[in-house]
Amino acid sequence: MSQSAQLKLSGDKTIDLPVVVGSENEHALDIGKLRSSTGYITIDPAYGNTGSCQSNICFINGEEGILRYRGYPIQQLAENSTFVETAYMLIWGELPNKQQLAEWSGLLTEHAPLHEGLRFAFNSTPPQGHPMATLSSMINAVSSYHPELLNIESDDGFKVAAAKLLSKVRTIAAFSYRQTVGAPVRYPKPDFDYCTNFLHMMFSKPYSSFEPDPDVVQALNQIFILHADHEQNCSTSTVRMVGSSGANLFASCAAGVCALWGPLHGGANVAVLDMLGRIYSGKTSVKEFMEKVKSKEEKLMGFGHRVYKNFDPRAKILEESAKKVLPKLGVKDPLLAIAEELKDIALADEYFIERKLYPNVDFFSGILMRAIGIPINMFTVMFAIGRMPGWIAHWYEVFKDPNARINRPRQVYTGPTERDYTPMDKR
Ligand code: SDX
Repeated sequence: MSQSAQLKLSGDKTIDLPVVVGSENEHALDIGKLRSSTGYITIDPAYGNTGSCQSNICFINGEEGILRYRGYPIQQLAENSTFVETAYMLIWGELPNKQQLAEWSGLLTEHAPLHEGLRFAFNSTPPQGHPMATLSSMINAVSSYHPELLNIESDDGFKVAAAKLLSKVRTIAAFSYRQTVGAPVRYPKPDFDYCTNFLHMMFSKPYSSFEPDPDVVQALNQIFILHADHEQNCSTSTVRMVGSSGANLFASCAAGVCALWGPLHGGANVAVLDMLGRIYSGKTSVKEFMEKVKSKEEKLMGFGHRVYKNFDPRAKILEESAKKVLPKLGVKDPLLAIAEELKDIALADEYFIERKLYPNVDFFSGILMRAIGIPINMFTVMFAIGRMPGWIAHWYEVFKDPNARINRPRQVYTGPTERDYTPMDKR
């Protein structure tokens, strides 16, 4: 039996609002008819209480620290899956069977290279340019070399477009890195899997064979899986917003890259390393820093979350992974001990407890990425590669939705009321 809620407005006006109940028993007021029947709109800056859509892709319970992709708990995927398999499942809704996985992997291998014209486009980007700027512009540039991707008319056409984007985003990132360090690009190798090929394109030396460390490949798979989707976060909402206008997959995901760049979102993994580095260098002490956080002169980067008011399950997995992988790689990173000290202090301090501030995905990810050789200026690019399947899945959900409409929020105007134009000699 459908539920409804009653809204009582000024005077005796009331309106019944249908209640939408999700598969995990989330409840929402459907205000689709609010303005037309009452003249009222709702207002919710930063959308902390507003659902933009109903989606089948990702579920988060922030109070209990639950994260599932298409119903699969993130802990099981991080333990058992690969990034390529998780990407398929996020996009098409089910874990692939052997044949489906082989076909999907084959498409990713086939579409790993860039058009030679695009390869030379890197020469026009300054080496000191930010890799997120290069990533966003090159993703759009890919569609200029593959105009057939701009108008997807079939599921098969979408699958090729998705494979091209997911595969080439890795090549673009590696080429962009090689350009910043003045190294010759390394073309993808068809016999390498997704993560091994990325590491090869990033770090292999010309005229020498590339033997990836299995622990590094496994850690990279896990990093990408943990970043693959996160329901309506800022960048995914951006992809859906842009896609709602009918913009193509590449333009929508290039916009997602720009949203992710911000230090409050995907850029936080870099900000965490900067924060830990300042403490390690002695510019400030843990105690002094935490005092500054509580007096709001500093933020504890990598802590806090709009949805998680409990541990971000990804942070727990990354912390355990860092503790396991660093010793295996023979890496001693003093920043890990500082991160642990900050975490322990925060978890016992009333300031953080009452604000429900816990480590989020960015708190430990940078330490693990640094240990496997990823340069700090590429951390947010790594987040974007990991998040690409989620963006593609959400774009496709909008694309396939017969009831999808262009996203166009309203506002409450608070500017000047009507007034006449003042001639220059009267101003
Ligand atoms: C990601 O949305 C997603 O799902 C994102 C993401 C994904 O996978 O896509 O999970 C990835 O972006 C993770 C978040 C990475 N960003 C950071 O680590 C930056 C540091 N965190 C904060 O900036 C903040 O916690 C946000 C941006 C993450 C969330 O901000 P909110 O929900 O707007 O929270 P808020 O600013 O309203 O904070 C509530 C209170 C405030 O104190 P009071 O005004 O009540 O006294 O908590 C305080 C804030 O000052 N607070 C912090 C803090 N985060 C919030 N205080 C110190 N350090 C922090 N990090």
